[in-house]
Amino acid sequence: MNEDPAAGLKRDVGEAAARLVEDGMVVGLGTGSTANFLIDALGRRWAEGLRFTGIPTSIRSEERARKLGIALSDFGRHPEIDLTIDGADEIEEGTLNLVKGLGGALLREKIVAANSRRMVVIADDSKLVRHLGSKAPVPVEVTPFGWEATSHRLGAIGARVQPRRDPKGDFFVTDGGNLILDCVFGPMEDAPQRERAIRDIVGVVECGLFIGRAEIALLAGPNGVHTVG
Ligand code: 5RP
Repeated sequence: MNEDPAAGLKRDVGEAAARLVEDGMVVGLGTGSTANFLIDALGRRWAEGLRFTGIPTSIRSEERARKLGIALSDFGRHPEIDLTIDGADEIEEGTLNLVKGLGGALLREKIVAANSRRMVVIADDSKLVRHLGSKAPVPVEVTPFGWEATSHRLGAIGARVQPRRDPKGDFFVTDGGNLILDCVFGPMEDAPQRERAIRDIVGVVECGLFIGRAEIALLAGPNGVHTVG
């Protein structure tokens, strides 16, 4: 078993973020190992009597929250979310623009973020970067039909493209039935323009660059959890 060396920091920040949730809120529940600690902490608060409504960003998070007894809803009943708390793969210093989607949930995550009054991003402080693309590829969700052509177009705007595969070697399929192309651009000084260029390509469903979505970041480091933004 490979232990995640950042698990303790992820737990700290997940638990700190759970304290932001208040009675009666509609809360977007993120996806990933950091968000799992958030959901578990919210489950404990639920058991102590806190009452809120969760909108999960993936089937995995939905199942986790449901097991803890957290009340869940959807956009039909709750078109506006008070607060979304989610992880990230990279957080850009200064702008709080993000790369998300290494966990494969970027489409639902972006829909939830786009319909939230506030988004708080949670991470260990190794995720903070000067420029997005420094460490992580940009995940791009595409339709299975024509993915090769979409991949070629992404290559034409500067990406080195790798179709994501699952552990068995098959194409990774998202909750929405789409594929993910992991696109290496290298460090980007122009992430907002890059996001637009990616989304302009026919066949792209959504892109893992989150521009102007996060209001604050809670970051965990050896000296505790601190707020940025
Ligand atoms: C999933 C995501 C996650 O938030 C991101 O991958 C961070 O994950 P982790 O907390 O496991 O490092 O975007 O689509």
